[in-house]
Amino acid sequence: KPAEEKGAVVAPEATAAGSEEKPTYIVGIDGEYPPYSFIDKNGEPQGFDVESVKWIADEMGFNVKIQAMAWDGIIPALQAGKIDMVYSGMTITDERKEVVNFSDPYWKVNQSVAVHDDSEFTMDDFMAGAGKVGAQRGTTGAFWAEDNLVNKSIMTADMLVTYDNFPLVATDLQNKRIDFAIYDRPPMLDAIAGKPLHIIGEIDTGEEYGIAIRKTDTELLETMNEGLVRLMASPKWDELKKKYEME
Ligand code: ARG
Repeated sequence: KPAEEKGAVVAPEATAAGSEEKPTYIVGIDGEYPPYSFIDKNGEPQGFDVESVKWIADEMGFNVKIQAMAWDGIIPALQAGKIDMVYSGMTITDERKEVVNFSDPYWKVNQSVAVHDDSEFTMDDFMAGAGKVGAQRGTTGAFWAEDNLVNKSIMTADMLVTYDNFPLVATDLQNKRIDFAIYDRPPMLDAIAGKPLHIIGEIDTGEEYGIAIRKTDTELLETMNEGLVRLMASPKWDELKKKYEME
């Protein structure tokens, strides 16, 4: 059942004729994840993933409400039925697969590491735990640093600093409160644009993005997989890649 029918509060919205029969699904996003999902100056959700899910909704016959929320609590919100899917650059991982299902992959990314323009730190320094690492809490970048630097005793746990969203990481990197930032490459490029920050290297994690859906919602999973197939075969896919300058 969609979250809406389970009593989630949803603002009414003008709907096209005939849309009464369509289910409405609530899509959870991080509102600070350009180019995939972000809230623009008018408070409107935008981005590659946001436009993708709207296109799929039209194509597959359902309505969507986009709900921006804290990334760290987004899977619990899905499990609790507050949202019906997470479509916001979420990497398919074995740990997450224990609690939710994922659609087929729709994008591939690696992690990237950035420093201040004044910094002389290299990727070797990063791998040797030479400075403080900032990451968004609950992301694969934070997990990577924990697994590969902290848990391997290359650096102590206090050297990994986590934040609610990535703009806060970029600000602290700019203010030199941390030495490195780690994040998925496409949003990293967005976050450093116009700031005295640059990327020093990549970690080839070969991550794949998927749409997270409750384990019980197998029908919605099939709908989203079919929607992705149709989206990727349509001119919209290339249009979106161009618009958001995706490599
Ligand atoms: N791909 C990474 C992950 O799944 C980072 C995602 C962050 N996404 C976001 N919307 N903030 O953990």
